[in-house]
Amino acid sequence: MTIASDRPLLTLIDPTSDDAAPCSTGRAALTCRYRCGDACSHEAPNTSTSETFADVMATAISRRGLLRTGAVLGAITVTGAGLSGSPAAATRASVLPRQSTTGALGLRFTPVPPNTADAVTVPGGHDQRVVIRWGDPLFKGVPEFDLNKQSPERQRRQFGYNADFLGLLGLSSSTRLMVVNHEYTTETLMYPDYDEANPTRDQVETSWAAHGLSVVAVRENTRDGALRPIVGHELNRRLHTKSEFTLTGPVAGHPLVKTTADPSGRTVLGTLNNCAGGLTPWGSWLTAEENFNQYFANAATVTDPVQARRLSRYGVSGTSTERLWELFDDRFDIAKEPNEVNRFGWVVEVDPYDPDSTPRKRTALGRFKHEAAQPRITDDGHVALYMGDDERFDYFYKFVSSRKYRDGDSRSDRRHNFELLDDGTLYVARFTGDSPPAEIDGTGKLPADGLFDGSGEWIPLVSGTKSFVPGMSAEEVLLFTRLAADTVNPTKMDRPEDVEPSPRTGAVYIALTNNTNRGAAGAAAPDEANPRKANKHGHVIELVEQNNDSAATRFKWNILLLCGDPADPSTYFGGYPPADVSPISCPDNLAFDRYGNLWISTDGNALGSHDGLFGLAVEGPERGRTRQFLTMPIGAETCGPVIQRDRVLVCVQHPGEKDGATATNPASTWPDGPGTIPRPSVVAVWRRDNGSIGR
Ligand code: FEO
Ligand code: CA
Ligand code: CA
Repeated sequence: MTIASDRPLLTLIDPTSDDAAPCSTGRAALTCRYRCGDACSHEAPNTSTSETFADVMATAISRRGLLRTGAVLGAITVTGAGLSGSPAAATRASVLPRQSTTGALGLRFTPVPPNTADAVTVPGGHDQRVVIRWGDPLFKGVPEFDLNKQSPERQRRQFGYNADFLGLLGLSSSTRLMVVNHEYTTETLMYPDYDEANPTRDQVETSWAAHGLSVVAVRENTRDGALRPIVGHELNRRLHTKSEFTLTGPVAGHPLVKTTADPSGRTVLGTLNNCAGGLTPWGSWLTAEENFNQYFANAATVTDPVQARRLSRYGVSGTSTERLWELFDDRFDIAKEPNEVNRFGWVVEVDPYDPDSTPRKRTALGRFKHEAAQPRITDDGHVALYMGDDERFDYFYKFVSSRKYRDGDSRSDRRHNFELLDDGTLYVARFTGDSPPAEIDGTGKLPADGLFDGSGEWIPLVSGTKSFVPGMSAEEVLLFTRLAADTVNPTKMDRPEDVEPSPRTGAVYIALTNNTNRGAAGAAAPDEANPRKANKHGHVIELVEQNNDSAATRFKWNILLLCGDPADPSTYFGGYPPADVSPISCPDNLAFDRYGNLWISTDGNALGSHDGLFGLAVEGPERGRTRQFLTMPIGAETCGPVIQRDRVLVCVQHPGEKDGATATNPASTWPDGPGTIPRPSVVAVWRRDNGSIGR
């Protein structure tokens, strides 16, 4: 389906209509239940108020000498290397694409108007095709998907459910390696006879198999932008809740990660709730474990106050869980296996080029509700990783490796680079506004200096095995990073989601999805970095490190977008006139194109339209001019955008996830049409004239 129009239609759907979702940010209650364990209906876990102590702490800590700040730009920043047979070179080509020298001129497609069609709606002149759907076989001999014949065995060899992060890595001139997160399962839409009070073992084990990760080789089409999975490719892989993962870094082997099944504290089964992620220049895939708390039962039975505090700070609460996995495996029952929960909430590094490799949970990156992990090389060659903790009033983090990245493709270079994320310094961010606090009145009205902006600092929490938090060991800081960060007065953010450094300028962009509790009684008040009370539509921050070096411990920042209906005076679009922008709500995943334009996918739409993908320039006269590139089918969230020169890839996550919908009474029939059930999928979009996207 395509919709063409001469200019953006700013007429919005009435949020009080039947099409509007009951959640204040536009999500169905069904989505909240299954995706994040109803996080928004619980009290935000961050109840810290440690300003005075933190100020003392911050002054006491000397950050000098933790890292040297080099002056020479790392040669690998944007090499534009061509594809070759080596994973590192191929990945650099795909992660750090050749940059256009013409710069960010803005985008030229005709925006898609807000709508509620049960379709992926793209601009005129563009075509689309599903690449792969939930249940499609990845291996030879696996039968085609049949809703009534799903089984754990089949699902372990099929594409998983609810795709989120998507990355595309180099393979050959006509093939690519697609890596995809399967964040969570929506049981009522997956099983025709699902009884939520009495799930069967077969259903539970199928859900275990539908979680996790997929590696799928795909072939490009010479005639158009379609991509087709190569069933049975030697690199195809499924990792799921029973697959083996290794804990590495300082926490590996710690008593608090030892369990009955794993007395060594080093081998974990599964990765859960993998949301966004990132790709590294050395050819690995980082995937972030987010709302892991919802899978663990019986936190309410814990009487030890230290353990109870640790659990509640991570939102692990209550008795039974939504999916009742604890009835089928004791490790999901905290009363029986208290440490299993500590083995989730990490960033996982996968080598997609080695199907026999064991993915590694990198404990040096800290444990929280990891949303994404995006690398940038520092001026002196170390790896900086930017990471958000997606919870209302939680924090934004950076890790800087102690060792340097090696820009080479040899076996030893690769081995070296695969150790980089096990040792380094973990920082948390404090944003300080430069306008008088009285001018931040919570309405979104710009302060007198015309910008929500200021400076900031990276506060170290731990470096290698050295803790900077009194009373906590380095291992404890990494295991309970939220509690460690609470002691140093970082800025409580409005749900830091994806983060993306611009490969063109080095500026770092952070999506803050929303926080309707901002400024509520007993909650943190608006501040210059989170300036709107009851922030329904979210915002995007632009962060520039001192000397544009990711090793810096200080930075400048400003708000690029305050999202929402452009007719609403609380919105801001980088200074661009609001009359000519696409409305955008709840920014989530971020990506850059080769011209330096920022692309934003949304999670929720408090304006009543369906979720979408938007592009905008971040430099030049078009800075801030959002243009909607596509919209999602009913109930779906836009995830995983990848913007290639001539192709856009998105994941259509949780189509048909509307309250009351079931597998036998679906709310959407996307992608296969009347009489079918909705299936989460990856979609490719391209220009009919094969032109460059957005030009
Ligand atoms: Fe899974 Fe924070 O979105
Ligand atoms: Ca200001
Ligand atoms: Ca997300």
